[in-house]
Amino acid sequence: MFYEQPLQKWLIGAQILVGSIKMEARLWIKLVLAVAVISMSGCEKKDATVKKPEAKEIKQMSANKESFGKTPDGKQVDLYTLTNSSGIRARITSFGAILVSLEVPDRDGKLADITLGFDKLAGYLGVHPYFGAIVGRYANRIGKAAFKLDGVEYKLAANDSENHLHGGIKGFDKVVWRLEDLDDKGAGAMVKLSYISEDGEEGYPGNLACSVTYTLTEDDKLQISYEAETDKKTVLNLTNHSYYNLAGQGTGDILGHELMLNADKYTVVDEGLIPTGENRSVKGTPMDFTTPMAIGSRIGQVEGGYDHNYVLNSGGGMLALAAKVYEPTSGRIMEIHTDQPGVQFYTGNFLDGSVTGKAGKVYQKNYGFCLETQHFPDSPNKPDFPTVVLQPGQKYTTMTVHKFSTK
Ligand code: BGC
Repeated sequence: MFYEQPLQKWLIGAQILVGSIKMEARLWIKLVLAVAVISMSGCEKKDATVKKPEAKEIKQMSANKESFGKTPDGKQVDLYTLTNSSGIRARITSFGAILVSLEVPDRDGKLADITLGFDKLAGYLGVHPYFGAIVGRYANRIGKAAFKLDGVEYKLAANDSENHLHGGIKGFDKVVWRLEDLDDKGAGAMVKLSYISEDGEEGYPGNLACSVTYTLTEDDKLQISYEAETDKKTVLNLTNHSYYNLAGQGTGDILGHELMLNADKYTVVDEGLIPTGENRSVKGTPMDFTTPMAIGSRIGQVEGGYDHNYVLNSGGGMLALAAKVYEPTSGRIMEIHTDQPGVQFYTGNFLDGSVTGKAGKVYQKNYGFCLETQHFPDSPNKPDFPTVVLQPGQKYTTMTVHKFSTK
């Protein structure tokens, strides 16, 4: 008993010890497992970030081509679709290098097409107010449809009463552009289109080789860049004439959009919308968008609505903020940067319900706005305006960037 007791105690003690060791071992195992799980979950997280580029590789950034039909004279017309991994989708056609649609997410990620236009080529072949088109050789107006270079007068089509508008009867918006490049391997999904405008076309001098490149980047920018060269002194002013409604095309007017224009002045125009030569301050007038204002807040005080060239504060020559537009119901924001000295702010004043566009939507007055980055109207006849003359040997390059976001 004497021995038994301590022995029993020892055995019991040993059992307890083994038991607690087992317990501890279990605890340790649990602890080790927990640490492993935590660190593995950490690894998983790490893997996820490491994997992201991989996921990006299988993402939707793409550039595709399909047929959009044929012109009445039998020319093949393509439709190019550029997408990025946020789901933004831009469709461009080789007819007029037109931006056919631009689908952009709202604050809940829901996509809507924010440009006016047509579903089919037939719409663009008919009469329309330059929906989405690349406009040239001279975007906007040239007074009395004529200008002089080195003493020689060049006569152009008077297609806007006595003035010349947007390149003439058959401007760059009505010709089939050639595909130069379609690619999704570089900085974005891109399509490059080119056009050769012959000497004398629409009255303009010089054979002009020009190109436009649309690039949709991964950081939600749609860049439009232009290049051109001539073999004879000429004038050039290219722009894109998209009509935007950030709430979605055809959903209503754009009067509730808030606009900021980085411009303290605008070019004063006569009744034919030809600049008088005066650049007037916007301060204290309904023309002032230097701080964000609803487009409709003072439009009633502007005869006919906005259709004015704003003199950008940057002066042009380098990429700078020109405009920012916010649409409160969708939360969509579009910011425009350009290296051009001006921007035509046009509120679709001539839309009157006579055009039925995409998805059967009828476009009424003010259903879209344009922000056409450009040189000032009638510059060929205004020696004090920034020059639009292109000389042989000179390379014309310009860029406008549309950046999309939400709030
Ligand atoms: C002009 C408007 C014109 C519209 C459609 C704009 O660039 O400034 O006056 O009505 O284009 O042609």
